[in-house]
Amino acid sequence: MKTEVAIIGGGPSGLLLSQLLNKAGVATVVLERASRDHVLSRIRAGVLEAGTVQMLHEAGVADRMDKEGLRHEGCYLSDDDLMVRINFKELTGTTVMVYGQTEVTSDLYHAQDAIGATIIHCIEDVVIHDADSDAPYVEYTVDGARRRLDCAYVAGCDGFHGVSRKTIPTDKRREFERVYPFGWLGVLSRTRPAHEELIYANSSNGFALASMRSETLSRYYVQVPLTDTVEEWSDERFWTTLKSCLPSEVAATMQTGQSIEKSIAPLRSFVSEPLRWGRLFLVGDAAHIVPPTGAKGLNLAVSDVHYLYQALIDAVKKGDTAGIDTYSERALLRIWKAMRFSWQMTTMLHQFDGEDSFAAQMRKSTLQHLSQSETARRDLAENYIGLPY
Ligand code: FAD
Ligand code: DHB
Repeated sequence: MKTEVAIIGGGPSGLLLSQLLNKAGVATVVLERASRDHVLSRIRAGVLEAGTVQMLHEAGVADRMDKEGLRHEGCYLSDDDLMVRINFKELTGTTVMVYGQTEVTSDLYHAQDAIGATIIHCIEDVVIHDADSDAPYVEYTVDGARRRLDCAYVAGCDGFHGVSRKTIPTDKRREFERVYPFGWLGVLSRTRPAHEELIYANSSNGFALASMRSETLSRYYVQVPLTDTVEEWSDERFWTTLKSCLPSEVAATMQTGQSIEKSIAPLRSFVSEPLRWGRLFLVGDAAHIVPPTGAKGLNLAVSDVHYLYQALIDAVKKGDTAGIDTYSERALLRIWKAMRFSWQMTTMLHQFDGEDSFAAQMRKSTLQHLSQSETARRDLAENYIGLPY
């Protein structure tokens, strides 16, 4: 088989890139390890920056999001009973969209089906060959048979555990990493959200986040030790812990119920530089991971696609390589700023095992400062709604 851009990974970054390239008449083949049902069952991000919303419009996949997504003009940060509202609308003139990653991915699959794009699921043993030559190709196994896909470019959109990043020789790249000593236990429940806006809660019992997917579907997270397993967390234990972290007026009126999904995710900050090796480009989680506290993971994957897709169109259609030659530098500038914000939000809101008494005071004082300084709130809002591309 032959195509212009081989895309490894059919998560949000691979599908969005494929959709934008197909719309411009550039041929793609998406190779995805999992089944479509499996990809759509992974509950992950929930907050879309204005830039992400714009990109989904550009890709022609925004109709359902515009109807069903929840536009949020602000969010809260809390410290025990102190609640600080960050008014995005007033401070930055814009809003964010609460719309789940599973819905974004589902909309992209439907759009790709509608334009007859090629997405091959349940493939195994992807190997990227000759990425540093003018004639790269990808080999993979599907239904027991080994196949070859020749292409002009390869987009590595296969997440943190994919093969694309590892294809780049270790002496050609540099990794930067911080692993946090805790994870997030996430729960989805068919209950009314605890509050009409998201609450990022610091408390003497640790961090919690109250989020949502709709007026009847809630998404919550609490900070847990990395050694914990989902089996150790009954629904009852989860609700008790969550309530002990949220402001008491919110906890008092909160609706609880049976969980419909429960999972634990570790927290890490990670960047692999550069994002390009020859004709291979890394996109999204394949190149970088942020702790979820700033809601940046999915949004960064979309901003990488923003920098790459027009560059690939120019290279394929006009032989103009100026865009692909600067992709890595342009994308990394924004990636590092989101890294900084996510690290800062994580440090400001979580308890670290073995920390000294000073650390908790620093968190309290940061929240106090936010409550009193519009400048501090504006800085947070500007980063949260997404820095300009
Ligand atoms: P992915 O979504 O990881 O997609 C990569 C795709 O490639 C997958 O479908 C995978 O099956 C496929 N793949 C992997 N290896 C191969 C291979 N060898 N061959 C072919 N295909 C392959 N962000 C937030 O903002 N908020 C959150 O609450 C949040 N929670 C998260 C929870 C978890 C458990 C994880 C892992 C991430 C979470 N994130 C969250 C981050 C966010 O979901 C990601 O940043 C986003 O999914 C990145 O999209 P992507 O397309 O780059 O990568
Ligand atoms: C959600 C997840 C996040 O990491 C975040 O910062 C905000 C919302 C969510 O799943 O709804």
